[in-house]
Amino acid sequence: MGDTNVLETTEAQIAVHWQEEDYYYPSPKFIGQANVTDPAIYERFSLDKFPECFTEYAEMLTWYKYWDTVLDTSDAPCWKWFKGGKINASYNCIDRHLKDNKNKTAIHFVPELEEERIDHITYQELYVRVNEFAALLRDFAGLKRGDRVTIHMPMSAELPITMLACARLGVIHSVVFGGFSASACADRIVDSKSRVLISMDAYYRSGKLLNHKINADEAVALAAKDGQVVDKVLVWQRYPGKSSTETPMADGRDYFVNDVVKKYYGARVEPEQMLSEEPLFLMYTSGTTGKPKGAQHGTGGYLAYVTAMSKYIQDIHPTDVYWCMADIGWITGHSFIVYGPLALCASTVIYEGVPTYPDAGRSWRIAQALDVNIFHTAPTAIRALRKIGPNEPAKYNYHFKHMTTVGEPIEPEVWKWYESAVGKGEAIIVDTWWQTETGGFLCSTVPAIKPMKPGSAGPGVPGIHPIIYDEDGNEITQPGIAGNICIQNPWPGQMQTIWGDRDRFVKTYFARYCKNPESKDWRDWPYIAGDAATRSADGYYRILGRIDDVINVSGHRLGTKEIESAALVVQEVAEAAVVPVAHEIKGKEPDLYIALKPGIQATDELAQKISDAICNQIGKIAKPRKVWIVPDMPKTRSGKIMRRVLGAISNKGDVGNVMTLANPEVVETIKTLVQKS
Ligand code: WTA
Repeated sequence: MGDTNVLETTEAQIAVHWQEEDYYYPSPKFIGQANVTDPAIYERFSLDKFPECFTEYAEMLTWYKYWDTVLDTSDAPCWKWFKGGKINASYNCIDRHLKDNKNKTAIHFVPELEEERIDHITYQELYVRVNEFAALLRDFAGLKRGDRVTIHMPMSAELPITMLACARLGVIHSVVFGGFSASACADRIVDSKSRVLISMDAYYRSGKLLNHKINADEAVALAAKDGQVVDKVLVWQRYPGKSSTETPMADGRDYFVNDVVKKYYGARVEPEQMLSEEPLFLMYTSGTTGKPKGAQHGTGGYLAYVTAMSKYIQDIHPTDVYWCMADIGWITGHSFIVYGPLALCASTVIYEGVPTYPDAGRSWRIAQALDVNIFHTAPTAIRALRKIGPNEPAKYNYHFKHMTTVGEPIEPEVWKWYESAVGKGEAIIVDTWWQTETGGFLCSTVPAIKPMKPGSAGPGVPGIHPIIYDEDGNEITQPGIAGNICIQNPWPGQMQTIWGDRDRFVKTYFARYCKNPESKDWRDWPYIAGDAATRSADGYYRILGRIDDVINVSGHRLGTKEIESAALVVQEVAEAAVVPVAHEIKGKEPDLYIALKPGIQATDELAQKISDAICNQIGKIAKPRKVWIVPDMPKTRSGKIMRRVLGAISNKGDVGNVMTLANPEVVETIKTLVQKS
């Protein structure tokens, strides 16, 4: 967690007080069809049944060989789940469904342009395309089990095809969110030591065909500067057989998949029998320091966990049409667009574009056209849809039985609109709290068993036992008192380590509350989520926000240090400090404070240059609300920048007592600058 002083700047401290909300109950109709209705599930997963309880999840999958040990703790806290078991994720998401369901749609791909019709890919077609691409990866790109591949692709059917082809070969995929910049992609290529990059020529966003191939060229050049050579760039085409990019293809390095794959038509690739604990993928996420960390997820444990969560919490049946509006480039998309739903033989919807294009009714037209009955999105999208089209859902004939909210705290008012307008009062809602690191849900109601409470995630899901600690590691048991939420026990979806940095893994997620670093007993290793939370008397948890230097913008994690480091690349900048500001739609936005080097004049152009530098290095999602160029940063006598004070100014809050600062007078100057503008 780094320096404990970061607690001064927490979002939790900016959190408001709230009153207890009333319960909403699931309808008899929902309960009548739900995958789990027996409250005994909580007993089956009580702490005294740990870890054997989790075999119930593993048994949802098809194994080549069953495990010898459910949980191996010998390398604590790098847990090994279902040790000795052998399994393949691609086989579980595709092959095993062919016997009964080959003709069922696996993926509905919805192009952003409404005049382009929806593409329906059956399980048989998915099988064919994954096999052919796996053959290409193996025989043309020379990839084998254990190699890493970086994938920088937009929302497309080809993205899960690529992931599943990697999984078939035991190649570890590292998907970078398509909206991230070339530079962010390069960092991930370097850290994972990928020699193959998989990209796409172009994609639609808000009605424009964006050139994406250009990012591949830039990323490869930047990675090379950092010593990582990419020798092959495989480029999918938005329109197969036709290039949609003006960026040239580098001879001997870049290949259009659609050309090369012809050689592999009809190829079939036997799935690799992976050890349960071999990594399936890396997903980079922001932390307290500048460098994103590669959360490493295993094969057997991860797949078992996301399959069970999809079945029990999302209530997915093979007959359901399931639409998760997240991007596959984030963990939500990995677990709950690709692996979980496909392992359950559901039909999963992949939408290329933005939910509000070309108008506020688009999402509901998609739901209507495909007869979607399970819907999954984030508060930021719900707020946006509510703002621009509060009455739109009623105009369309769709009916959800189940809806999810994920990624950030949801305000009870927004929850209620989601329930009544989007869900038409018919759908249950699960508010799922979890993280990139956790693979699947931590807190949520089990939909047919526990009532919903707006703004509250709910109790731990079966098998997850949360606990709230204070700063000194004492358990907080009183309702309504905030502390650091931790999980007492390991679970199969938990990340295995940070790719290449075990020490950072231990330090970040365990060190603070681990009483004995030598211990091989899981009871000594509570997992630190990095969020502040409170528990109410009914055992429901309400998540308040990050306690570390992470800002949650539209449900996407950005490290303040990441943004500050990007600003410091501009040579005029002496100091940079980022604080989260409340935003009506996005939840939070970064506000950036800058102090310039001596003799440099503050200008609008310079502020723009700094903002551009951040977009170029990280991506547009990191764009500061405003770049405030200030004469000096408020500092402690020891020279530490007081982000808490800046945060209070940005949020028009109380700056508190600043007289102990080294330069209290600057606070008034900054306040005038910011609050008068
Ligand atoms: C926040 C996204 C409140 C939290 C799956 C967490 C939430 C971070 C919720 C992880 C929720 C996620 N209610 N806050 N239901 N879900 N968060 O890694 O701060 O992108 O630590 O994973 O998002 O973000 P990540």
